[in-house]
Amino acid sequence: MHQSISIYAHRGLSGRYPENTMDAFQAALEAGAQGIELDVQLSKDGQMVIIHDEKINRTTDGTGYVKDFSYAELRQFDAGSWFNPVFANQYIPTLEEVFKWATKDGNQLIINVELKNDVIRYEGLEEKVLSLLYRYRLQDRVILSSFNPESVKRLRELDANMKIGYLILGIHKNAVKIAENIGANAIHCEEAFALSQYGKEAISAGFPLRIYTVNEASKFKVLFEAGAEVIMTDYPDLPLEK
Ligand code: G3P
Ligand code: CA
Repeated sequence: MHQSISIYAHRGLSGRYPENTMDAFQAALEAGAQGIELDVQLSKDGQMVIIHDEKINRTTDGTGYVKDFSYAELRQFDAGSWFNPVFANQYIPTLEEVFKWATKDGNQLIINVELKNDVIRYEGLEEKVLSLLYRYRLQDRVILSSFNPESVKRLRELDANMKIGYLILGIHKNAVKIAENIGANAIHCEEAFALSQYGKEAISAGFPLRIYTVNEASKFKVLFEAGAEVIMTDYPDLPLEK
């Protein structure tokens, strides 16, 4: 097995808990994951909120766009019952709440903050995320990422040192060239890219590969042997095959 195996819980332990909720993040910590991945967007009043879809329809009991609600309004929605009624007390957390939780004693998790600004462009999201992570002194524990190359570029303009991953879908032949141009220092990709010649070239060019979303433990070993640095999974509690 690869020496520095790192498993990140995708949207928290989202295979068994409602995604992007405090319960899912706490379960990831207790399962022994090395990190969590989460998605951040902006509410109408500019709060950084943790939710994947641009609309709240799939993962809450409400309807409409995240950007059209204040955080006080978003906080009222039930973000757990869609998954299982036992999670009816779960809500959409803020990024600040996650950072507060992550800086409590004993919590050493890496936090991959995906800026969800590829469909809706949230003006100022990059500045806000950076400013918050500086305030919580999480520079060494946060990895930023985005599918939007302009957002990655903006993050790099604002911060020369942060770990920033360029997120790609499928086998993206120009990923390395784009990653170099926008100042990313890693590529966050799917299994198909990691196992392709382009994945090998990316590693040779100095870009660590962090792979999403792998839910079969039998694939973990193959991917780490192919040079992956991180695997993101909905099931970080799966037993690792040695
Ligand atoms: O950050 C990796 C992965 O979460 C990207 O895809 O759609 O699950 O946010 P998605
Ligand atoms: Ca994500």
